[in-house]
Amino acid sequence: MLYAGTFDPITNGHLDLIRRASRICEELVVGVLTNPAKKTKYSMDERLEMIRLATESLDNVVTDHFDGLLADYVVNNHISTVLRGLRAGIDFENEIQMAQMNARLYKERTETIFMMTDPSHSFISSSIVKEVFSYGGDISGLVPTQVYEYMKKIKEEKGDK
Ligand code: COA
Repeated sequence: MLYAGTFDPITNGHLDLIRRASRICEELVVGVLTNPAKKTKYSMDERLEMIRLATESLDNVVTDHFDGLLADYVVNNHISTVLRGLRAGIDFENEIQMAQMNARLYKERTETIFMMTDPSHSFISSSIVKEVFSYGGDISGLVPTQVYEYMKKIKEEKGDK
């Protein structure tokens, strides 16, 4: 199963889905994409490291990264299931459009499945977390503890984040 995203950074909303999905599949690949439409705050290596820190206790979760079309990655790696999270009504329209376009592009029988985000995480997005963090606001509980520590370390090292 593949769970793909920008993860800039991984949040507790993402982690909740990763935990739940890891219980229903043999192996979950968390795929970090280079999305040219989004300018990321954290480098690919930093995002991968934060996912690794957040998921180290989950034995069947692995990370990977790729650019280009999600469907190409799915076809090249013979992925049978793609997981997407749904936070609220607003996600649904976009998600159905993406899932239907991807379904055209998959050459094998790949299914997109959706899991509801836990309501306590419904309001979280990576952008809102970054915004609050950049002003020094408290984001504990919104990102995994190890990720929060890592973000603070990077902020100290780079000074400007
Ligand atoms: N909990 C908390 N936040 C969540 C969440 C959850 N369960 N699920 C999603 N989010 C947040 C994300 O952090 C992201 O926040 P941001 O916009 O502030 O960065 C936002 O909701 C949107 O998430 P998502 O739709 O997963 O966007 P994404 O950029 O992380 O991933 C891709 C989208 C990369 C998977 C998609 O653009 C893609 O497949 N791109 C590859 C190119 C391609 O194939 N294009 C054709 C598609 S048909």
